[in-house]
Amino acid sequence: MSQNSLNVALEYHERTKHHFDRYARSLGYLDWATQPNPFRQFEGALRLPLDEPPLRDEPAYDALFQPGAVAAQPVNRQTISRLFYHALALSAWKQAPGTPPWSLRINPSSGALHPTEGYLVAGPIDGLSTVAAVYHYAAHQHELEQRRILSAEDWHSFAAQMPPGAVLIGLTSIHWRESWKYGERAFRYCHHDVGHAIAAVAFAAATLGWQARLVDSLSADELALLLDTRHQQGPEAEHPDCVLAVFPACDRPPAAIDLAWPAALGARLQRTEPIGVPNRLSRDHQPWPAIDKVALATRREPAPRAATCPPAADAAGISAASSCEDSDLAAPPRSVRPLAAEQIIRQRRSAVALDGQTALDRDAFYAMLARLMPASAESARRPRALPFATLPWPVHVSLALFVHRVGRLAPGLYLLARDLRHATALRGSLRTQFLWQRPDGCPAGLPLWLLLQADCRPAARTISCHQAIAADGVFSLGMLAEFEPVLREFGPPAYPRLFWEAGLIGQVLYLEAEAAGIRGTGIGCFFDDAMHDVLGIRDRRWQTLYHFTVGGPVDDPRLQTIPPYAHRTPNRTLAPRTDGLPAV
Ligand SMILES: Cc1cc2nc3c(=O)[nH]c(=O)nc-3n(C[C@H](O)[C@H](O)[C@H](O)COP(=O)(O)O)c2cc1C
Repeated sequence: MSQNSLNVALEYHERTKHHFDRYARSLGYLDWATQPNPFRQFEGALRLPLDEPPLRDEPAYDALFQPGAVAAQPVNRQTISRLFYHALALSAWKQAPGTPPWSLRINPSSGALHPTEGYLVAGPIDGLSTVAAVYHYAAHQHELEQRRILSAEDWHSFAAQMPPGAVLIGLTSIHWRESWKYGERAFRYCHHDVGHAIAAVAFAAATLGWQARLVDSLSADELALLLDTRHQQGPEAEHPDCVLAVFPACDRPPAAIDLAWPAALGARLQRTEPIGVPNRLSRDHQPWPAIDKVALATRREPAPRAATCPPAADAAGISAASSCEDSDLAAPPRSVRPLAAEQIIRQRRSAVALDGQTALDRDAFYAMLARLMPASAESARRPRALPFATLPWPVHVSLALFVHRVGRLAPGLYLLARDLRHATALRGSLRTQFLWQRPDGCPAGLPLWLLLQADCRPAARTISCHQAIAADGVFSLGMLAEFEPVLREFGPPAYPRLFWEAGLIGQVLYLEAEAAGIRGTGIGCFFDDAMHDVLGIRDRRWQTLYHFTVGGPVDDPRLQTIPPYAHRTPNRTLAPRTDGLPAV
């Protein structure tokens, strides 16, 4: 690891903190003339439309968390269509009176800017393709753009290293889409979004009885070759983030999948050009060199093949890294509610305002927190839980919660240690006056502590850039990551990966809120060190990386909702932009 790259990551983190008297650098206004198109397309690529499947009542949402409860479906055109439809597709269009509509997706994104692009690398798929190929997923039309045909031998060189039926889902980020609005802090938001997308893929896979594992053994250059983004240059370039192996669940699913890059593959891929030219997203761009610099410094380099973070789990799928997972600490399993998983996934939205009244009962709150734990309470053998089984590294993120309105629970500041190591470590980093009391009625398996009894609404609101949603909900929280020690131990690529882990937690919160009949919202705008001050954090051993709120939503009655693929109907268009780009 180069000390310089580490310093770049640490410096980027410091300079992109929001402070009461100074926000991280951005333009400070929205330059509508350069607004990026949220839809990437590869002109000239072969387009393969996917099905828009009807929603199924089964499986139940709660069944997704019970290993083995959802029968594995075969990989074919219908199931691949469902995978993308429930992971990365459009979920609706919204329109305010007198303004053009804007689209929402299954995976949320800071400012709805959607920097994340999806890819599929797969062998022949029944009903879709007779050849192995690399595809870009075009969310606007819910179709695959075939960018390269792979030889049977090349595909086999990957397939042979994965469980039967596996496909690869790739994710890339276009930083410009996010920096257009948020300036230098945008790199953080891009990686929150990657985390949300990873979890969205894992949940969609689970509805099909499939599993997802993040493959963290390929370098950024190898990913760029595989996903065919290597020719992209400049501000609109896609930065390859990761690939997930997605496969029909088998008896003993691997806890982690490390793909070795086939020796001759690079040369073969380099000999032929991918098909299709990426569309232009903006007329002009504002450079953000701090983002270019941190993106370069945190790229995954090839050999020596040191894992970014050490594997967390043994072959049986049981983590050796987390004492929570080893000890008898799981909360009791919850019963299966009559909630269809696909419905919950597709109805997920961010609340724009919360009512300041809705409360959640203590037991429902505890059950929701149990779903944020990395180990499953719902299996005797307790492998890693959905979607955390996707990540091949130890748990680095715990939660500091501002509890506002939970029935039979004192309002105050609480700590959920997602790994018992964290509880011990945080006792040494947080204020010495904190109570560390087990809350009443808390299941023995839930490592939750009351730190301070108080009305935290004013503090929560102030810390979250004065956003009322942080105070008007049932609870809001900050995700505390083990920080500088992790970057020093595992190197600069750990920096974006900490945001991915936070994004996964955010996605579970979004879905859990929907399942509880309320709503969540990710909060990327917060005053970092103000949160640290509340907690007594004085150094970089722990840093808050992402905030979140959950509560009773207040809808804006002026907004009209339009079905996600109304524009796929012949002769129907959605108010095309006047600049010739597709509707946004
Ligand atoms: C990483 C991240 C940060 C976000 N930060 C905020 C925020 O600070 N304030 C807010 O009101 N919404 C925030 N949101 C919500 C987004 O604005 C929302 O996801 C987006 O508009 C798309 O809407 P949807 O979630 O309903 O699909 C955030 C979302 C994400 C994923």
